[in-house]
Amino acid sequence: MKKRIMFVDDEPKILDGLRRMLRPMRKEWDVSFAENGPAALELMEQEHFDVVISDMRMPGMDGAALLTEVKKRSPDTIRIVLSGQSDRETIFRSVGPAHQFMSKPCDAEKIKKLVSRAYGLRDLVNSDTLKRLVSQVGTLPSLPHLYTEIVNELQSADPSIKRVGEIIEKDVGMSVKILQLVNSAFFGLRDHVNSPSQAANLLGLDIVRSLVLMVHVFTELEDFRIPNFRIQSVYNHSLAVGACAQSIARFQRAEKTICHDASTAGFLHDSGKLILAVNLPDEYGKTIAISRNEKIPIWEAEKKVFHTTHAEVGAHLLGLWGLPNSIVAAVAFHHNPEMSLDIQFSSLTAVHTANVFAFEHQGKNEEEDILPKINYEYLSELGLDHCVSQWREACKEICQGSIK
Ligand SMILES: [Fe+2]
Ligand SMILES: [Fe+2]
Repeated sequence: MKKRIMFVDDEPKILDGLRRMLRPMRKEWDVSFAENGPAALELMEQEHFDVVISDMRMPGMDGAALLTEVKKRSPDTIRIVLSGQSDRETIFRSVGPAHQFMSKPCDAEKIKKLVSRAYGLRDLVNSDTLKRLVSQVGTLPSLPHLYTEIVNELQSADPSIKRVGEIIEKDVGMSVKILQLVNSAFFGLRDHVNSPSQAANLLGLDIVRSLVLMVHVFTELEDFRIPNFRIQSVYNHSLAVGACAQSIARFQRAEKTICHDASTAGFLHDSGKLILAVNLPDEYGKTIAISRNEKIPIWEAEKKVFHTTHAEVGAHLLGLWGLPNSIVAAVAFHHNPEMSLDIQFSSLTAVHTANVFAFEHQGKNEEEDILPKINYEYLSELGLDHCVSQWREACKEICQGSIK
């Protein structure tokens, strides 16, 4: 079936350009155009759109307001912002989760890639196999209430670190764990941190917010015992991958949003493992045995047993939680970054490589006997293969901070 795509831009010239540029896509896409937000919403009342691509700066209703409305009226519509690079931070703050960003000028090829990437990811994390599997799994970890409260505070007109600290302190168990983590060598802080707001001050609110998610997932599942599987090792590994991914993104001088996404995706990249191992322990035990006997990586063994992988299960969960596509993609493709259609450095690049470095520096986990490898072909397509040794070095010290 043809995909229905709508472009919204207040400049008729831009719409004309897009119309010409996208003519070759006629067989695959049904494209509509609107000159402002209200006109776009009117069109949406008449038919369902699979993708809405909107300019950011428009008189009256701007792109953020329009896409927020699109999300409300048609949550499964993929929302893409097409705008000047400088707007990026504002967009991520105001539009909320599950959308993509594309900077002007763009060509048909770029638009095509982005749309198919958004689709590929959506199909992957919502596949029938995954849905069937998840229905077998009793319960999935919930999105913690605390996280929603923090996000609300951060999206308020005047976000305050002190108030975020107070929100976390209400949950004593969470506070203790967050403080234990931020005082570990992973974060390289010289002073001892005594309160969540001090942690947020030193590390940034986004890191603390991501740590809340990670701690929550592991705490919900920590009491389970599975042979050849230690939740603590996955915890340690995840922490290392989150911290390393962020440091790689910083090393690349990536935008703030990419750095934050890299740490969140890193902290949560293997959460699918916990979901599978805790809920289906016999099958997971079998998976570990297959990986060892056949000397294949754990995710290949998972495919044989579950017809999906921990990467996809984790991405599915984060998708359900409404985390941004960039984070969902970084988790979904952390073992196969070439599937992402990345065209430049992204949080996925950081998580893919950080996952390998964490194992190199920390050693094997009980369940991962065959270690992952860096996909040099993917990196060389991005023109980044020469960076590997510097990234590895940047991660070395972080990984020595393991919590026992
Ligand atoms: Fe993994
Ligand atoms: Fe991993």
